[in-house]
Amino acid sequence: MAKKTEITLREHVYDGIQEYDQKLPNWWLFTLYAAIVFSVGYWFYHFQSSISATDGERVEAQMNRIERIKLANSIDVTDNDLFWKMAANSDIVASGEATFMANCAACHKSDLSGDIGENLVDNQWKHGHLPANIYATVYDGVLEKGMPNWGNLLGQQKIAEVVAFILSKHGDREKMESEAVVKTD
Ligand code: HEC
Repeated sequence: MAKKTEITLREHVYDGIQEYDQKLPNWWLFTLYAAIVFSVGYWFYHFQSSISATDGERVEAQMNRIERIKLANSIDVTDNDLFWKMAANSDIVASGEATFMANCAACHKSDLSGDIGENLVDNQWKHGHLPANIYATVYDGVLEKGMPNWGNLLGQQKIAEVVAFILSKHGDREKMESEAVVKTD
């Protein structure tokens, strides 16, 4: 083999032009092969596996976050439309769910089907089915019947999120509003 410094030429000649016969430098080859290996891994990670979030999911997560901040700064607890908007935001619903599981599930059960507390998914309501009614019930409680008041403990935003979580269990607004039943006992 020719020494590194020695210049050897390949045999063929085109139009009087000859080629060097030298190996590509190792650092160059290493970069090439590393890039090939990396590209396979990258392709698999982003396009074949479900490990990484898609761009769509990432955009949605950001939009949810932005909307959540906007809504949190503008809670009008008498605005039923606003509660329904919150119920369509998966971030808000998830955070309402966490609050519910920590504070409410003991009496209302984690599937909201009711135990000591009322069933919250059957659409029969003692204290009103409108989001603003539900908010008020949770905020003030029904002390004489054993439903604690949560206003001071959880505050406006957390309670609004819990209401959004409860609404999210009722499918769409029209259905909930048309099928709601007043319950008395
Ligand atoms: C200590 C038990 C207990 C806990 C904890 C509790 N509740 Fe209740 N809840 C009740 C009872 C009992 C009632 C029924 C009140 C009545 O009969 O008027 C009720 C009623 C309700 C109602 C009204 C249902 C209707 O038919 O109008 C809502 C909404 C509600 N609870 C939501 C919540 C939420 C949200 C939380 C957590 C932040 C929570 N509750 C925590 C016991 C509880």
